[in-house]
Amino acid sequence: MKCLVTGGAGFIGSNIVDNLIEKNHKVIIIDNLTTGTKENINEKAVFYEMDIRDKKVEDVFKKEKPEIVFHTAAQIDVRKSVEDPIWDSEINISGSLNILENCKKYNVKKFIFSSTGGAIYGDTENIPTTEKEEAKPISPYGICKLSVEKYLHYYGKIFGLDYVSLRYSNVYGPRQNSKGEAGVVAIFIDKILNNEQPLINGDGKQTRDYVFVKDVVNANMLAFEKNITGIYNIGTANETTVNEIFRLINKNLGNKAEKKHAPAKKGEQQRSCLDYGKAEKALGWKPEYNIEKGIKETVDWFKNKDKN
Ligand SMILES: NC(=O)c1ccc[n+]([C@@H]2O[C@H](COP(=O)([O-])OP(=O)(O)OC[C@H]3O[C@@H](n4cnc5c(N)ncnc54)[C@H](O)[C@@H]3O)[C@@H](O)[C@H]2O)c1
Repeated sequence: MKCLVTGGAGFIGSNIVDNLIEKNHKVIIIDNLTTGTKENINEKAVFYEMDIRDKKVEDVFKKEKPEIVFHTAAQIDVRKSVEDPIWDSEINISGSLNILENCKKYNVKKFIFSSTGGAIYGDTENIPTTEKEEAKPISPYGICKLSVEKYLHYYGKIFGLDYVSLRYSNVYGPRQNSKGEAGVVAIFIDKILNNEQPLINGDGKQTRDYVFVKDVVNANMLAFEKNITGIYNIGTANETTVNEIFRLINKNLGNKAEKKHAPAKKGEQQRSCLDYGKAEKALGWKPEYNIEKGIKETVDWFKNKDKN
């Protein structure tokens, strides 16, 4: 099938592209390379260097006629969304709407959205959190993701667009950008490899649900192949502390780093963890990687990155 992957030069998007190409699908990428890189782009994909807000997106739909859209392009920095919510919404809401309007106009069969479970529920006592939990995001980034899900409901109901929204927990793995704010795993590995001091914010007891990128790709493939629509959490239902992440990475790199803490970030969420029972039932999805295996594979990739 012909698939469009927005953000296909990014961490998650490029891993989706590679998998689609392995399965002999034709892939088109739209990416403006703000955080994505040319090195991530599979040479068998057709690449349009373009902003998702650009009117020229329509020319791509007209010419390429994609049947399936994986929408992964986004401004992913939660802190930047707090600093400039208008700019954030222009990319994450208006940009998404530009893609959706073209899906409607050019009869796309299915839209698979990269949403967030980590930022959509806000602070909640119910852990692991299910999709039944009311979404009360506490960042503009989370609000934008929830807004797009509401638009998806509208496009589904009114125009019959099939969609799946995958609410990922904290994704980590090969190709994650270590310079951004999002990925503590990539940041710690990069720092230790470069003999810099990684810093754990606060006491390090805050937990997250870390899901390996190959499991996320697998969820996207199942969402594509199965005849289902709706919203699904994609996480592991396991909580891991930042202290434990540091310990595992450091162990894989020969325990050469010292454990140091920085002051806690104000307002940082203490716990986040997703129940994936709904995805297991509807998609037959469950995570294949535990944190030890995933960290090992990620560390190995970063070690060999410059040789790749
Ligand atoms: N990494 C995580 O832990 C995580 C968790 C939940 C949800 N997500 C979502 O998954 C998706 C992919 O995230 P990622 O971690 O791979 O980040 P990423 O930054 O590596 O990927 C985003 C891609 O979108 C591109 N992009 C950004 N703005 C664009 C624009 N205006 N026009 C065209 N392209 C643009 C970037 O260049 C990049 O290639 C995002 O939608 C993100 O919100 C990620």
